[in-house]
Amino acid sequence: MSKESDECYTPIEIIRALGEFDLDPACGPRCPNETARLMYRKDGLERKWRGRVWLNPPYSEAKAWSERFVQHGNGIILLFWSRDNQWSKRLLRAAGAFFLFDQRINFRKPDGKVFHLPYHSLLFPIGKANIESIARSGLRGQLLVSHHASRITP
Ligand SMILES: C[S@@+](CC[C@H](N)C(=O)[O-])C[C@H]1O[C@@H](n2cnc3c(N)ncnc32)[C@H](O)[C@@H]1O
Repeated sequence: MSKESDECYTPIEIIRALGEFDLDPACGPRCPNETARLMYRKDGLERKWRGRVWLNPPYSEAKAWSERFVQHGNGIILLFWSRDNQWSKRLLRAAGAFFLFDQRINFRKPDGKVFHLPYHSLLFPIGKANIESIARSGLRGQLLVSHHASRITP
């Protein structure tokens, strides 16, 4: 995914529907929404992560951010689905669940214009409580939970 897609903000209603988050490590300097109690506006990959994480990462660096998310092991990541990426398979195994939105998400660019990704958007929850928060959220889509998920993903 190109750099152009990096600066696109999640509709705040989606995040609110999922409950409160302790940290958004990829907030960037210009994100207009309060996405979590603590928001990292730079150096989010290098800094310490704690608690329940909301993550809609810069898509041009999705591999590094999703790796870090899996290592952290608590939260929800919003990403796009692509069969060509090893990281989406790894996330699927690590999370053991995913949520596929029924509709395209109206992301916002810094100038307020709506931006649509050319792929399906998904949530990957890690941790039982995060799976349950999606089930309770009222967001429209399909939640699939695997009973055969393995956290061991070399
Ligand atoms: C797809 S946007 C999502 C923003 C916000 N997390 C949300 O959900 O609306 C990804 C954001 O990550 C920011 N970003 C990129 N590298 C970062 C870094 N190293 N530390 C913190 N934020 C970063 C970008 O500036 C961009 O605003």
